[in-house]
Amino acid sequence: MGMRRVCCGGNKGKVIVADKQIDLSSENLFDILGTTRAMRRLKPDPVPDALIVKILEAGTRAPNGANSQSWHFIVVKDMAIKKAVQLWYKKALDEIVGPRYASSAPPAGSTADKYHRQHLAVEYLTEHFHEAPVWIVACIKHDNPLIPPNRSAGASIYPAVQNMLLAARALGLGASLTTRHLFYEAETEKALGLPEGTHSYAIVPIGYPLGNFGPVGRGDLRDFVSLDRIGQPWDALP
Ligand SMILES: Cc1cc2nc3c(=O)[nH]c(=O)nc-3n(C[C@H](O)[C@H](O)[C@H](O)COP(=O)(O)O)c2cc1C
Repeated sequence: MGMRRVCCGGNKGKVIVADKQIDLSSENLFDILGTTRAMRRLKPDPVPDALIVKILEAGTRAPNGANSQSWHFIVVKDMAIKKAVQLWYKKALDEIVGPRYASSAPPAGSTADKYHRQHLAVEYLTEHFHEAPVWIVACIKHDNPLIPPNRSAGASIYPAVQNMLLAARALGLGASLTTRHLFYEAETEKALGLPEGTHSYAIVPIGYPLGNFGPVGRGDLRDFVSLDRIGQPWDALP
């Protein structure tokens, strides 16, 4: 599968995804899917509220369990709040995630060089987390304290988060899905001022991209898909 970036920043220029040249201003869903990457280097310049509203609308188009819409999205612009969370986000990199990165092999679809560059981008975002002009913090209000947050709950918020990432990309904005603050869940949720029973599932920092939108690389479908039972190849795959 041929994947390489051919030029340019912002949402201008072209990339090649699966041997097909994609115009980065394309509004075709599959083109957007193929170029929605974690954009961790962001300009601190403000983003118009109208664009954030569009992203939130896209988020709330997502499915959620029983259509109960127990989600809540906090648009965070307050530097004091962002900085208070960033301290924990950085601590989690320094003490937990960073050492894991340093000792792990590149995942499928990556190389040692790409993985190293990913780590540098992760460090950059960590240092500048609070400088992203806007965060959207995706939360769920848990009505029943007897049922702790679980995978089902996550399944009702991450589709919305993914919709927002795609919408940001379509608007030429950079964004990424982050959850590392959850290593210090109590501390960061206090800093975010979440009421009792409401929990955060992701922080999505959004801004104009400093870097280029490149093609998504996840390796070969054959590594992840089976027919009928795990391990049985499906010959329909390319
Ligand atoms: C559940 C989840 C949690 C993530 N948490 C973080 C995070 O805390 N910080 C971060 O920089 N990226 C985070 N990411 C982004 C992944 O690292 C990213 O999707 C992956 O490196 C692929 O990057 P790409 O889309 O640029 O190819 C998270 C992604 C997922 C799905």
